[in-house]
This record gives sequence, C-alpha cells and structure tokens, in this order.
Amino acid sequence: MSDAHLHLPADPTSRERLAAFGLRYEVVASSDRDAYTGWFRADARGFHDAEPAAEVLAQELEGLAFRRTVGIFDDTIVDRGAPVATVSSWPMQLTVPGRRDVTAWAISSVTVSATHRRRGIARNMLEGELRTARELGIPLAMLTVSEATIYGRYGFGPANRQSPYEVDTKRVRWTGPVPEGRVHYVNRDDFVENGPAVAERQRLDVPGEVERWPMWWRRRAGLIEPDSEQSRRIRVARYDDASGTPQGFAVFHLADMDGFRGTVVVDHLLSATRDAEAALWRFLLEQDLVVKATADLRSPADPLPWYVDDVRGVRKTDERDHLWLRVLDPVASLEARTYAAAGRVALRVADALGFADGTVLLETDDRGAASASRVAEPPTGVPTLDVPIASLGSLLLGGVTAETLLRVGRVQEATPGAAVATDAVFRSPVVPFTSIWF
Ligand SMILES: CC(C)(COP(=O)(O)OP(=O)(O)OC[C@H]1O[C@@H](n2cnc3c(N)ncnc32)[C@H](O)[C@@H]1OP(=O)(O)O)[C@@H](O)C(=O)NCCC(=O)NCCS
Repeated sequence: MSDAHLHLPADPTSRERLAAFGLRYEVVASSDRDAYTGWFRADARGFHDAEPAAEVLAQELEGLAFRRTVGIFDDTIVDRGAPVATVSSWPMQLTVPGRRDVTAWAISSVTVSATHRRRGIARNMLEGELRTARELGIPLAMLTVSEATIYGRYGFGPANRQSPYEVDTKRVRWTGPVPEGRVHYVNRDDFVENGPAVAERQRLDVPGEVERWPMWWRRRAGLIEPDSEQSRRIRVARYDDASGTPQGFAVFHLADMDGFRGTVVVDHLLSATRDAEAALWRFLLEQDLVVKATADLRSPADPLPWYVDDVRGVRKTDERDHLWLRVLDPVASLEARTYAAAGRVALRVADALGFADGTVLLETDDRGAASASRVAEPPTGVPTLDVPIASLGSLLLGGVTAETLLRVGRVQEATPGAAVATDAVFRSPVVPFTSIWF
C-alpha cells in the first residue's frame, strides 16, 4: 500500500468552508503524539465508548497508523486537545465479482461531538474525504455504517446485507458433510499467526470481502486486552485439511452457562474451503452443555440451515444493510469486475457532487470482460438506465437487481426493458458479503 494518503493535506474546499465557521480541518500525523491521542479519545467518545485504556491507546497509536486520521478542531472549546469531529480513511482492497479486487477508499471513525452536531460538519468532512479519494485516483469509497440514514445523501448505496443467526442445538442433527481433516483447539496467538493466510485464500471468493489489517486479528482474538474477563473467555478452533494445512478458524466463547444450558457465541468463523466451513460448524453445533448457538455478521445466504435435519432449528434473527459503496469513477469501477453475459448497457448516472455525473457505456463480452467509456449520449438501440449515484453503488457487486430498484423508484428506464438487460449482465453467482466491520 502506498502511503500517499498519509501526506496529502486536508481537502482545501472543505478546509475553507469550515474555516468560515472558525473550525480547523486538518490531518493529524501519527508522529504528533498529543494530537493523535486526542483524536483517538474523541473517536471513542463519538461512539459513546469508554475512554480508551492506556494499554489500548498505545496499541492503537501504532496499529492504526496506516490510516489517514483527520480531525476538525475548535480553538474556542475547553478541551482543545480533542477534535470536535473525526474521520479516518485508507486505501483497502475490495473484492468484486469475478475473483478480482479493486482499491477502494475505506472510511471509518466518522464522529461529530455532541456539542457541535447538526451544523454541517459531517457533510463537509465526508465531501472532503470523497474529494481526497478522487485526488488520489481511487475509483470508489466504502464504509460499514452505524445507521442507514446517514450516507445516502453523499452518494453511498447499500451494496450487501448481513444477518445474525440462532440455532436451537438440541433440536438439530448434523446432516452435512463430515470432512476428512481435523478440528484442533489452538491458542489465540495461532489465529493471529495462521489466520491471515487463510483469509487471503478466501478473500477473492466472495464479492464484498475486504483486506484485514494486523490489529484486526489481534482485536478479534482478544489480544488487545488479553487479561480482561471478556478476552479470557475467547476460544479458538482451527480446521486443518487432510494434509495438515490450516483452512479455517472459529473464534467463539460460551455464555449463559448457569445450569449447564449454555450458548456458544460464534464471534467469527473464517474458512478458505467448504470442508473447513462444514467441519467448524459441526464442531460448534455439537458442543455438550449447550442448547443454543448464535453467530452475528453472517451472510444472509449462509448455508447454515442446510447443514442440519430440522431446518426450522436455525433462525435468521435479523437482516440488514452492511457495506455501502460510493462510486467516484464509474469507468474504473465498472471495469474492475467481470460480468455474467455479453451485452451493452448505457447508464445515465446522476451525481449531485459531480464525480460520476454523465453517461457510461458498458460493453461486456461472453467471457465477462468489460470495457466502459464515457459517452455524450447513449448510442441508439442500447438499453439505457437512469441511475442515481447511490443506486450505482448498490448495483456494483450484484447485491440487488436493477429490476428491484426500478420497482421502488431507485432507477428509471430510459428505454423499456433496460432493467432486465442490466440484470442479465450484472448478475453475480455469489451473494456479496463483507465478514468484518471497519
Ligand atoms: C452521524 C454524525 C457524524 C452526523 O454529524 P453532523 O455533523 O451532525 O451531521 P451534519 O450536520 O453534517 O448533517 C448532514 C446531514 O445528515 C443528516 N444527519 C446527520 N446525522 C444523521 C443521523 N444520525 N440520522 C439521519 N440523518 C442524519 C442531517 O440532518 C443533515 O441532513 P441534510 O444534509 O439533509 O440537511 C453524528 O451524528 C455522530 O457523530 N453520530 C455518532 C457516531 C456515528 O454514528 N457515526 C457514524 C458512523 S458510521
């Protein structure tokens, strides 16, 4: 990863707009320890988290230094060391259909202090982040969101969904495959050591998956505060294939153990092969002294219900949006993925911020390769769809059909049948999913 994003100053347009309100919009360098610490304190406060413990802060200062940290400062407040708004961003690989990936601008830590909310600070910050990504030549931005009502106005659209699951483990019997490899208990360090290679083999399988950073592994394994009660509860199981190569991990803990009728809480299940996935689920569902298994953040298309005899013993307890995408360069974004069929479609993209506004002609061949180009007008006879920028983000990974978006008024057909023609090309055989928060 290049580190150009760490050195580019804060976007001049937003800097000027915020200066008019007496606010300073600045990149906070990780070498400026006091300012950097203030930034992390403000980020935690913005999400109503506890004040970070010194040992956590020390690790964040090192482990998240690959991110561009941006703050907005108000020199008239009492606690001047903490910004009144925070955002962080960095280039990260995003998987797109066709086992390919594209560099996307990941945005995180969006907070505005409760003392400064609803006066346009987030808008200036987000628009500034998008202009910065464009300046760096990054074709699209992405985030996982706390609320679904915030980011549509900046051109982000929900691109995939996530579900938590609950299994009545006493009701179900395993009927899925019983692979030849073995499940081992391993210590938490093993997840940090051997997990990244497994994730790297899995990453391109599913559109929507993203790279993970070293600190993600340590946090997931409970190694940021290893001696806390919560961390000590974490157990790790590893699946090795018949040749002894690690192919998957289950990170989990036991809850509600009163009366020996506990719940196995699956914190993360990672698998590079179908065998690993099956073996780890079987291991989790067949625990003794347990009556329930729960797993957050799984794909709505997870095979879990199909592994057992009584499919009603597995319930999806919710389903909601997860990854949101914002296309900045429609040509590069569309060319990054492959397509389901040969075809030609024109997308008339409406983007109030101007990045992607205009018509793009997408031509795909029967191997799925695409070429996209900006055109003044859609060529005669080419199916043409009017696409607000947020809907382009929703369509990109194949997580929703143009036909659905047409029905709800989120795209319009400029030529009859354009939605069906778009779907024939955009369809993805794999339901897009992102298995982490960032
Ligand atoms: C979300 C948050 C950053 C918004 O900051 P803000 O400076 O108050 O937002 P702005 O004043 O720039 O508002 C911009 C627009 O978003 C709207 N908006 C802001 N927060 C919103 C929310 N939580 N729900 C719905 N709309 C929201 C505003 O009404 C405004 O709408 P308009 O442009 O149509 O007038 C702030 O509420 C916050 O810090 N929340 C807690 C942390 C969080 O959830 N962050 C998001 C992480 S993904």
